[in-house]
Amino acid sequence: VVDIRKLYAQTGMFTYDPGFLSTAACQSAITYIDGDKGELLYRGYPIEQLATNCDYLETCHLLLYGELPDAAQKKDFVSRVTNHTMVNEQMQFFLRGFRRDAHPMAIMTGLVGALSAFYHDSTDINNPAHRDIAAIRLIAKMPTLVAMAYKYTIGQPYMYPRNDLSYSGNFLHMMFATPCEEYKVNPVLERALDRIFILHADHEQNASTSTVRLCGSSGTNPFAAIAAGVACLWGPAHGGANEAALNMLGDIQKNGGIENIGEFIKQVKDKNSTVKLMGFGHRVYKNYDPRAKLMQETCKEVLHEMGLENDPLFKLAMALEKIALEDDYFVSRKLYPNVDFYSGIVQRAIGIPVPLFTAVFALARNVGWMAQLNEMIGDPEYKIGRPRQLFVGSVPREVKPMAER
Ligand code: ACO
Repeated sequence: VVDIRKLYAQTGMFTYDPGFLSTAACQSAITYIDGDKGELLYRGYPIEQLATNCDYLETCHLLLYGELPDAAQKKDFVSRVTNHTMVNEQMQFFLRGFRRDAHPMAIMTGLVGALSAFYHDSTDINNPAHRDIAAIRLIAKMPTLVAMAYKYTIGQPYMYPRNDLSYSGNFLHMMFATPCEEYKVNPVLERALDRIFILHADHEQNASTSTVRLCGSSGTNPFAAIAAGVACLWGPAHGGANEAALNMLGDIQKNGGIENIGEFIKQVKDKNSTVKLMGFGHRVYKNYDPRAKLMQETCKEVLHEMGLENDPLFKLAMALEKIALEDDYFVSRKLYPNVDFYSGIVQRAIGIPVPLFTAVFALARNVGWMAQLNEMIGDPEYKIGRPRQLFVGSVPREVKPMAER
């Protein structure tokens, strides 16, 4: 076996691989994807079984500690998380500095980074106990922060967490309850939201996870590394695709609905256009994203529960998917729906506003980021991430005095 890193260091060679199309940046035992088969496993368990038989906090335990919890471990884990659902009251004043119309992901990038200013016992990334309590705090506080960001933008009072509710039930309460009236958590929406969280919990070395690893590799604190992940996730080619997909469906709907799909597909296929079918395509999946299948099922359940079976955007999405999957452009490039194609429709039916979709994704992905950070720092081969470059700039030259330039 050749240690390629030593060989390259001795010879001065390195690989040039923009976009990391064929370069593994780490070893990992957390998530496995078979992109050709459309398979996704967390710690060896198929996503379909986890989404059907487990809840999000069990999935968090699995990702963080490697095993699903037994009953006693679950009780203990849930109690540790619920113990940390409140955020320091000072965070409200920080939040108040934002414009009311700020994008929730702009707010979340700031709020998550600001946690490092409050919880000093969880900022040493090289200390496993600090990382563990940081992970618990983040799992517990992200829903509180997302709900606070939402309440702030609509001018309603923040609702404090309720630890007697489930993880997703508490999130629904903080989002939609008001102090003036009783709010009852709908169990169908609660389960659907929990499933969204499970499906988004980890996805191996995607752009935001790689960002968290790279950021954490400098020895920064865990909250700062996770804030970097939130910032990366925001982009429309990554987590922002759920928002972009729903906006795209809205635009097609406005311009004639199902009748307009042909015209839209023509624009996507035009070599000179930058229009993409948002919620379609994936760097690793060259088959149907298994999360998209589960999300489509959840979408049907939620729409049925809300009496929205005839939801025009869902019908439009189904028709668009059918046309795209029969079109040679998409078939030849192996472009299939990804998780974001249907997740926006589910979130909208639950009542979550479109600009908040990516923040919900960040809330769910946070555990994957922390699990990956733990794995990286626990790896004896871990070094600061420092990509090389292929320099294509000027040869050395002399600085001329101003008058001669
Ligand atoms: N619509 C139209 N054409 C597409 C799409 C799309 N959604 N995705 C890829 N293509 C085309 C590309 O134009 C390219 O065509 P070409 O060979 O004629 O140049 C070909 O398919 C290969 O695409 P790449 O961009 O090289 O694939 P890459 O792996 O770099 O990109 C990505 C993957 C970013 C996800 C891309 O498919 C995309 O932008 N999709 C839309 C955004 C999206 O849904 N992102 C969410 C991803 S899942 C997630 O983050 C949770």
